[in-house]
Amino acid sequence: MAKYVAEPFRIKMVETIKVLTREERVEKIKEAKYNLFNLKGEDVYIDLLTDSGTNAMSSAQWSALMQGDEAYAGARSYYKLMDAAKDIFGYEYIQPVHQGRAAEKVLFPTFLSQGKYAIANMFFDTTRAHVEIAGARALDCVVEEAGDTSLRVPFKGNMDVDKLESIINKLGPDNVGVVVMTITNNSAGGQPVSLHNMREVSSVCKKYAIPLCIDAARFAENACFIKQREDACKNMTIREIVKALFACADMFTMSAKKDTIVNMGGMIGIKDSNSSLILKVKANCISFEGFVTYGGLNGRDLECMAVGLYEGIDENYLTYRLGQMQYLADCFDEEGIPYQAPVGGHGIFLDAKKFYPQIPYYEFPGQVLNIELYKEAGIRGSDIGSYMLGNDPDTGRQLESINEFTRLAIPRRVYTQSHMDVIVEAVKNVWKRRDSIRHGYHITWEPPILRHFQAHLEPIEKA
Ligand code: F0G
Repeated sequence: MAKYVAEPFRIKMVETIKVLTREERVEKIKEAKYNLFNLKGEDVYIDLLTDSGTNAMSSAQWSALMQGDEAYAGARSYYKLMDAAKDIFGYEYIQPVHQGRAAEKVLFPTFLSQGKYAIANMFFDTTRAHVEIAGARALDCVVEEAGDTSLRVPFKGNMDVDKLESIINKLGPDNVGVVVMTITNNSAGGQPVSLHNMREVSSVCKKYAIPLCIDAARFAENACFIKQREDACKNMTIREIVKALFACADMFTMSAKKDTIVNMGGMIGIKDSNSSLILKVKANCISFEGFVTYGGLNGRDLECMAVGLYEGIDENYLTYRLGQMQYLADCFDEEGIPYQAPVGGHGIFLDAKKFYPQIPYYEFPGQVLNIELYKEAGIRGSDIGSYMLGNDPDTGRQLESINEFTRLAIPRRVYTQSHMDVIVEAVKNVWKRRDSIRHGYHITWEPPILRHFQAHLEPIEKA
């Protein structure tokens, strides 16, 4: 029987959630044009749309919030964050920004422009969008194993290093503006990257003088996987692993809304204090985000981040956190329900292609499963597949994703084992009646960029 790692905390404040009837949900999702982003949060029972900014802060964070210094320049809260981030990552320059995509918007145009390429183990959607907004093109270079959801290998988030080197040679090293390592690899299923792989990628980047940037949203979960799965690292502390990972790169962008366990925040880190990048980052930050010592955030947000950075790398917390995912995975294994295995760090990625082999990628199987789960139990997940990937920016044609996932992202410290059991029950029921679904959805309206957030869909009715 699946075993749950008990919460290393107790609950001090609660928020009521309501359950609609199935009939009401069928109506709500239709009104939302079959896009789960269009639903009202209060019409969702268990909200697994994202683990981003949906975390529960601790009493220590809430009390730090009251210490917020709201000075426009040089606030005390800024220096607290600087001390924490420099201590944990070992980088010389840290720039707060309001969230991850702000970090991308501020940093990427400093080295990406028309004709340049950015290569990643896998780009997340907003990161890909900011590469394209800067005029460059984004290429994914994840290991082949990531495409086979049933293959249980420890580091399915890794970069394919040989392929990386051959792409660099093909494009010409001068045309590659940056290499990005997303840890954990969100689009591949929250799959970790090994320290060994990070080091190999780092040496390829050094060989061709290409900067290496970490997309650090889930760096702590990645470090915990390394401790659990990489033999050479099993006696290292989480903090030592984090230091070793970041020592490989030149810079990072971070959405603090994930592993820093806050509701809003982000950072840019630059390792070398002599880097010419710093002046450009400061200039862009002042234009887009605000003065360098607040970066679009309140002083109180900086306080919460400074505390959350340490809470996020606590080993007891991380063991519980990864244990919660493992519990879901073990329950699904008992029923033979397919997901990206082994389970990732921030959610379970159901393999919608295996739920609905009858539905082609351009009818969005991941979105079909999402809608079924909402109707079944008021659970809101998200599509990480062709629906999210969108259209080729040059040809306008629908791209085909290597995987069609329905991601059930688990907010940090929010839901209990009973909620996990409701999720398991709902997925089981939808799995049992998977053959009854004949067709998917088509898009009736879409914006040109990041379309999945706003698009309108309609069920395909065929005779
Ligand atoms: N990088 C990764 C790997 C992410 O997963 C995200 C956001 C970002 C960057 C952008 O950060 O949201 O703070 O601007 N991912 C969220 C998700 C939205 O649901 O996975 P942001």
